[in-house]
Amino acid sequence: MPDAWLRDAIAAINADFTRSADTHLVPVFLPAFPQIKLYIKDESTHVTGSLKHRLARSLFLYALCNGWVTRNTPIIEASSGSTAISEAYYARLLGLRFIAVVARSTSPEKLRRITQYGGECMLVDDPSQDRAHARALATELGGHFMDQFTFAERATDWRGNNNIAESVFKQLANEPYSCPRWIVCGAGTGGTAATFGRYIRYRSYATQVCVVDPERSVFYEYFRTRNPQLRVAGGSGVEGIGRPQVEPSFLPTIVDHMIRVPNAASYAAIHVLEERIGRRYGGSTGTNFFGACCLMADMAARGEKGALVMIGCDAGELYRETYYSAEWLHQQQIDITSYCTQLRSLLDQGRWAIGPIERASA
Ligand SMILES: Cc1ncc(COP(=O)(O)O)c(C=O)c1O
Repeated sequence: MPDAWLRDAIAAINADFTRSADTHLVPVFLPAFPQIKLYIKDESTHVTGSLKHRLARSLFLYALCNGWVTRNTPIIEASSGSTAISEAYYARLLGLRFIAVVARSTSPEKLRRITQYGGECMLVDDPSQDRAHARALATELGGHFMDQFTFAERATDWRGNNNIAESVFKQLANEPYSCPRWIVCGAGTGGTAATFGRYIRYRSYATQVCVVDPERSVFYEYFRTRNPQLRVAGGSGVEGIGRPQVEPSFLPTIVDHMIRVPNAASYAAIHVLEERIGRRYGGSTGTNFFGACCLMADMAARGEKGALVMIGCDAGELYRETYYSAEWLHQQQIDITSYCTQLRSLLDQGRWAIGPIERASA
């Protein structure tokens, strides 16, 4: 039987949900493609600033209802930052200690937000070791390792309950194409892709899921080969997506198509998107936008009509000192000029002369 603390904890999370509004589905003006509609599911407008607000709520409810977390349980998480920000928010709501294990390269603004919500940060040099450090710390403190990379795909109610997929399909109800051809998202845990893929099948929608993957991530290769031993060194270069090893929440069987997006293309894409809609998003939204542009170019070449929905994962202000900084791009020896030119030429004239981009279908 649930004790009073558990009842209050769940009530506090539910009250937080009742106070919250849904996120917008923002249309992108496409002068060169009158027959194609592109929408951004703008997850940056959640209270904690990213799509991870949904995941953090689900992970806390899952852990509470499983009896894994009680009134004095410290919460530990391995994260590229966004999940930790949202979990720090919920931990504070429940009066629990929260420690995030994050890569040293994480943007300073994200670290600041974790501590602003009362969380603590443990910085690690090697991003591939974040989960191992988090698990060890949880054992040492008698805490609970939230482990988003394992539980993201199963903590979310994939059949509905206003998950991200249900929300998108409801918001498309009065659009010219209410069933999109493509959903475009990245994979950090793989949870967002899993929620969309399962929901689409459950509702028998004729929509395909395209997962975009940055450099130095194994997901693309894993989708092609199904080799679970794949490893790469270092971070992906696009915070929030791409992992150095295969993670349990990434389910390749629900993905229809993958595109490997060069990091320079992701950074260029957020600059071009800002020109179009006057909003700044983070790098992973740029990866999604570049992937959506590849798919739009395909559709236009085949004379297809229809809609695409891409995820706006978090806001650009977190990355002022990195992806939006000319100095940072210069230091990284990254030139985004030619990708910017290509993206503008696609959006304005429908011309797309990008060199070979690695792509794979199920
Ligand atoms: C900024 C950002 N974008 C995208 C993602 C990918 O989402 P998911 O974990 O559901 O695969 C993440 C996940 O960490 C993220 O932090």
